[in-house]
Amino acid sequence: MDEGKFIVLEGIDGSGTSTQGPLLVKYLFEKLKKNVPVLSREPTELSSYGRELRRRLEGRLLPGEEVIHDPVYWVSLFFNDRKWHVDNVITPSLKIGLQVISDRYKLSTIAYQSAQGASMDDLIKIHDRLPVPDLTLLLDVSAEIALTRRGRDQHRTQEYFESLETQRKVRNQYLLAAQQLSSSEKIVIIDASKSIEDIAKAIQQEVNKLYGYK
Ligand code: ADP
Ligand code: TYD
Repeated sequence: MDEGKFIVLEGIDGSGTSTQGPLLVKYLFEKLKKNVPVLSREPTELSSYGRELRRRLEGRLLPGEEVIHDPVYWVSLFFNDRKWHVDNVITPSLKIGLQVISDRYKLSTIAYQSAQGASMDDLIKIHDRLPVPDLTLLLDVSAEIALTRRGRDQHRTQEYFESLETQRKVRNQYLLAAQQLSSSEKIVIIDASKSIEDIAKAIQQEVNKLYGYK
């Protein structure tokens, strides 16, 4: 049995990864005429690390817990959650031939936690033994446009990394990281300032190349 392919959607908050994930699932399902692809995301909400991350991102601390700003602590939570995700969702699904799409993966840690002050080289190195995506699509958009989009959703409160200043830094780190990793893996930068439909089409073109479709 052929293994499935592993596709990752990346970008700053509000770049549109949650919008594009389901559209890509639908496209691949109709195109491959096989099982529905697995759509997963990080942080997972499935591991204890992922649940702690969600709480900390939203500022929901347990009694006695303090806000932690040290990037080392954040890296350990994101990385342990990712290992859990790889061992329990990504690798088992790929092995039985399912296509896997992940909304965020290692490039998120490399971009966000280097923006927090961790060394990009070290962040790249810790991921050496984890599966390399077959394709990473980096939805690139300015922090200002992304903020406007998020602002339209009145129900959201600002999460830990969502200030405009942080998001500007993260965008730069994403572009640097994509450049740095481009000799060893396939990362495609998509102009995410366009409409939802145009972005979906650009993603489909890259995915068609990956599967050898015209
Ligand atoms: P992310 O998951 O990257 O944080 P979302 O997909 O949740 O971002 O999108 C954030 C908001 O912007 C949502 O309200 C969504 O409907 C809207 N949105 C997503 N993509 C676009 C786009 N290309 N143009 C305009 N609005 C968009
Ligand atoms: P996300 O689920 O995309 O946020 P939301 O669903 O609220 O739009 O991601 C959660 C936040 O965590 C987001 O600000 C990005 C950040 N993050 C990191 O800093 N490092 C990581 O490794 C990951 C996976 C996410």
